[in-house]
Amino acid sequence: MKFKNPVFLASGIMGETGSSLKRMAKEGAGAVTTKSIGLNPNPGHKNPTIVELDIGLLNAMGLPNPGVNSYIEELEEVRDFIKKLDTKIIGSIYGKNEEEFIEVAKKIEEYVDLIELNISCPHAKGYGMAIGQDPDLSHSICKAVKKSVSVPVFAKLTPNVSNILEIAEALVEAKVDGFVAINTVRGMAIDIRAKKPILSNKFGGLSGKAIKPIGVKVVYDLYENFDKPIIGVGGIYTGEDAIEYIMAGASAVQVGTAVYVRGYDVFKKICEEIKKFLEEENLKLKDIIGIAHE
Ligand SMILES: Cc1cc2nc3c(=O)[nH]c(=O)nc-3n(C[C@H](O)[C@H](O)[C@H](O)COP(=O)(O)O)c2cc1C
Repeated sequence: MKFKNPVFLASGIMGETGSSLKRMAKEGAGAVTTKSIGLNPNPGHKNPTIVELDIGLLNAMGLPNPGVNSYIEELEEVRDFIKKLDTKIIGSIYGKNEEEFIEVAKKIEEYVDLIELNISCPHAKGYGMAIGQDPDLSHSICKAVKKSVSVPVFAKLTPNVSNILEIAEALVEAKVDGFVAINTVRGMAIDIRAKKPILSNKFGGLSGKAIKPIGVKVVYDLYENFDKPIIGVGGIYTGEDAIEYIMAGASAVQVGTAVYVRGYDVFKKICEEIKKFLEEENLKLKDIIGIAHE
């Protein structure tokens, strides 16, 4: 699959509606990833759901979304516009079991270029990370979705495991087409005056600057062990951050928290910064994918 550039929008940031996806496509993202969509509408967790930290964000949104039937109506309205910009759409989906994943995947398939299995959300009980921490569940869900759709299927991994390669191996056996790494890292913030956790869910997922070295290591390990394309995500704010992930083995990157930090034009900025680096070094993007392994 070819993309106009390697800098994509990550799931959960400005992908809640069709029009916000369209806006991010206009801002120059090579692909836009939808908010993770489930079978039924989900209100998510009660506020507070986000804590701003100087090292990133801590969030426990709880996967709020309108459910796949409403969401595809939104996609229906914007997909031609997004296609004309030559921007790809990645459909992030979740479910509580194989059946739900299959149903959502089948419904969303015709609206997207690639399906991303969110088996890694750290704060949605029974969904997400509970699956991505279990090699057998990861395998059976990936296999079931692969059998049901014809678009490529990527799995988004959680770093909240002791052996990520065991999970990745199970997914490779299930014929996953590629990896997205990483989702947020479990964490907590406490309001010392109120003397209790700030998030209504008590804990959440840490994103942004603080998690970049964790993501780079995961991408490095995946590249070292498997021959599958990798989309790197976690703490990418600049072209230099993106290049680190690419040198570790990612062929593309996704940007989440930095959309808040650097503004909606972050995609253009990162692309320009990557281009500048490549010109200075007299290299092409494909020359540096995984170069840190040589
Ligand atoms: C507010 C917020 C909501 C998110 N929602 C989702 C989601 O619905 N599905 C998902 O797979 N990841 C979700 N993520 C995780 C991001 O896609 C990404 O993996 C993570 O934030 C690390 O990238 P970053 O440091 O660039 O933000 C969310 C992150 C944030 C900050």
